[in-house]
Amino acid sequence: MASLFILQRGGTFWRRSGSPLSRSLFFSNNYWLPRYCYTTVTTSNAETAPFPYQRVHQSVLLEEVIGYLAPQNGKIYLDGTFGEGGYTKRILDSANCRVIAVDQDPSAIEKAHQLANIYPGRLSAVWQRFGDIAKLRQPFDGIVLDVGLSSSQIASNRGFSFQKDALLDMRMSYTDEHGALCRLIPAHAIINQYSRDKLASIFTKLGQERFAKNIAAEIEKRRATSPINTTRQLVDVIMTAVPKRYAHHSQIHPATRVFQSLRIYVNDELGQLRSALESAVQMLNVGGRLVVVSFHSLEDSIVKKFFRDLAGQTSTSYIDDNDYIEEEGEASIADTLQSFNLLTKRALKASSTEIECNPRSRSARLRALERLE
Ligand SMILES: C[S@@+](CC[C@H](N)C(=O)[O-])C[C@H]1O[C@@H](n2cnc3c(N)ncnc32)[C@H](O)[C@@H]1O
Repeated sequence: MASLFILQRGGTFWRRSGSPLSRSLFFSNNYWLPRYCYTTVTTSNAETAPFPYQRVHQSVLLEEVIGYLAPQNGKIYLDGTFGEGGYTKRILDSANCRVIAVDQDPSAIEKAHQLANIYPGRLSAVWQRFGDIAKLRQPFDGIVLDVGLSSSQIASNRGFSFQKDALLDMRMSYTDEHGALCRLIPAHAIINQYSRDKLASIFTKLGQERFAKNIAAEIEKRRATSPINTTRQLVDVIMTAVPKRYAHHSQIHPATRVFQSLRIYVNDELGQLRSALESAVQMLNVGGRLVVVSFHSLEDSIVKKFFRDLAGQTSTSYIDDNDYIEEEGEASIADTLQSFNLLTKRALKASSTEIECNPRSRSARLRALERLE
């Protein structure tokens, strides 16, 4: 009789390995999850130390990510989006394994160094963009990406939020005493220098903003008299450009989509995701898993098509026919001899309980893939 493990808060997932039941579903967190996807994750007996820094970010789909990643003793994992280390710490606490943590934001990497002090020899922090993970030249037993912004970035004075007046910057990786990691164009330069058509195209393709042309026209008009440099100035332009009726009745703030599209453009978020996926599948050891959590439909559609292509479930390219933005070329799945198994037939979403505790999790979508050979 196969052994049965009970789901515990500390991160133990259960599975009846070898039994026919292991192919059915089990109910967790308000969701029926495919039981066969899970392997037992035993929480290490070592005392779990608290985070050595104050956290603002609440990790999304944490149990589910760890369940799919299934950390094991002696293995090595890549957290491509360290943020405030919620996933990394949980991986380290789940097994006696090692983690390489990557983030493009130097303030995240500072936290990773602090966390590394309480896991001697088990955590290395690398200040890098996840689109460049191939440079690590290292195979992994599991790779996780939690793409997007951390709550501390949203709360910062870097112009990500339309609810806070700040310089319209939006670069996730900025130049400081570390020197430049990459050359990103700040959002205010885009707003003040790009043509009206180009701005409208960014707002439409990356934000699905229905009043993109009106907003771009209003930007062109305003900046002719004085530059638009702050979040408040841009919000003001948007509020003038969108019809009053829409502004009053819309369920989301009228600036939401423009801000989102600018952030995606400034940080080349879709290009980064494509490169990271292509590299990640080449870097997985046999049995290794790739888990991706995304928050935007364009990102999720890239992940979905890429995973399905790899698992041989569709013959179409994972790039939609309508390319998102003109300078982005076709990306392709690199020639690979490995075979993969799709662990999530459908994207996993946060439970209603999690959404209640952390509304940010509402748009999260988790997809997972396993390398078979
Ligand atoms: C949602 S947060 C991750 C939160 C983390 N999972 C946790 O539990 O604390 C996303 C992080 O990914 C980082 N990031 C976004 N795009 C990146 C890229 N292209 N390369 C490296 N890091 C990136 C951001 O700087 C941010 O710190």
